[in-house]
Amino acid sequence: MNVIITGSNRGIGKAMVETFAASGANIWACARKATPEFESWLNTTAKTNGVWIKPVYFEMTDAEAINAGIQSIIDDGQSIDVLVNNAGISTVGLLSMSKVEDIEKLFEVNYFAMLRVIQKVSKRMSRQKHGVIINMGSIAGIEPQPGKIAYGSSKAAVMMMTKCLAKELGPMGIRVNAIAPGPIETKMIHQYKDEVLEKLASETSLRRLGRTEEIARVALFLASDQASYINGEIIKVDGGR
Ligand SMILES: NC(=O)c1ccc[n+]([C@@H]2O[C@H](COP(=O)([O-])OP(=O)(O)OC[C@H]3O[C@@H](n4cnc5c(N)ncnc54)[C@H](OP(=O)(O)O)[C@@H]3O)[C@@H](O)[C@H]2O)c1
Repeated sequence: MNVIITGSNRGIGKAMVETFAASGANIWACARKATPEFESWLNTTAKTNGVWIKPVYFEMTDAEAINAGIQSIIDDGQSIDVLVNNAGISTVGLLSMSKVEDIEKLFEVNYFAMLRVIQKVSKRMSRQKHGVIINMGSIAGIEPQPGKIAYGSSKAAVMMMTKCLAKELGPMGIRVNAIAPGPIETKMIHQYKDEVLEKLASETSLRRLGRTEEIARVALFLASDQASYINGEIIKVDGGR
């Protein structure tokens, strides 16, 4: 299985690389920029698991860079079996305190960049007549919250895009699903104060925040043939909020 993972240098994306590599998958690990730590970690992970992992660099707000990055993957000439659209950003702010330009910027990363990647990769997948696309949604796109107008709306858009694409691409043998995580321990969530994190944990029936590998394992399941009849679903992974 050959897999593209965006936002693979930290957080949930990093756990995805570890989880997929441990299951024997080869990976195009997409990130914004090269660092020696990232490349050395990729080399170690590849060697440990006997797979290849190739870094691919592009900035998600740059349409030409996305195009070039994905083209370089296509030019590898290998089958692209799975695309995990994980890269994303989060902001908190009441509409009255927000600049619409900043909301547009967030949509550029969370929604439009994802759409560009999918458009290019799904053309290739449809020629192969198989493929799996997994998009990162969020419970913030399901549960309305004050201050989450930008992030929540972008994730709601991602989840509706997922369902529409499942209908468009299903006939070509491509499954499209989304994961809607609850609060997961990453840098993204540590923008919040400790009291907020405690409250978020207390709102789950498991009374704790989620771990990155708990999202990665669901992505691995969705990518596998174990999930061969799951299409157009939003899988909530939120510890039972
Ligand atoms: N953590 C949570 O509680 C939670 C809950 C629900 C959904 N999610 C979703 O899960 C996904 C991963 O989140 P995370 O918690 O792992 O976040 P994270 O630790 O902040 O990592 C975000 C990743 O996205 C990349 N990224 C952001 N903007 C980019 C850009 N303009 N160009 C290229 N790469 C960019 C980051 O790269 P850099 O390192 O270069 O910035 C990083 O690899 C996101 O889509 C997020 O919305 C997270």
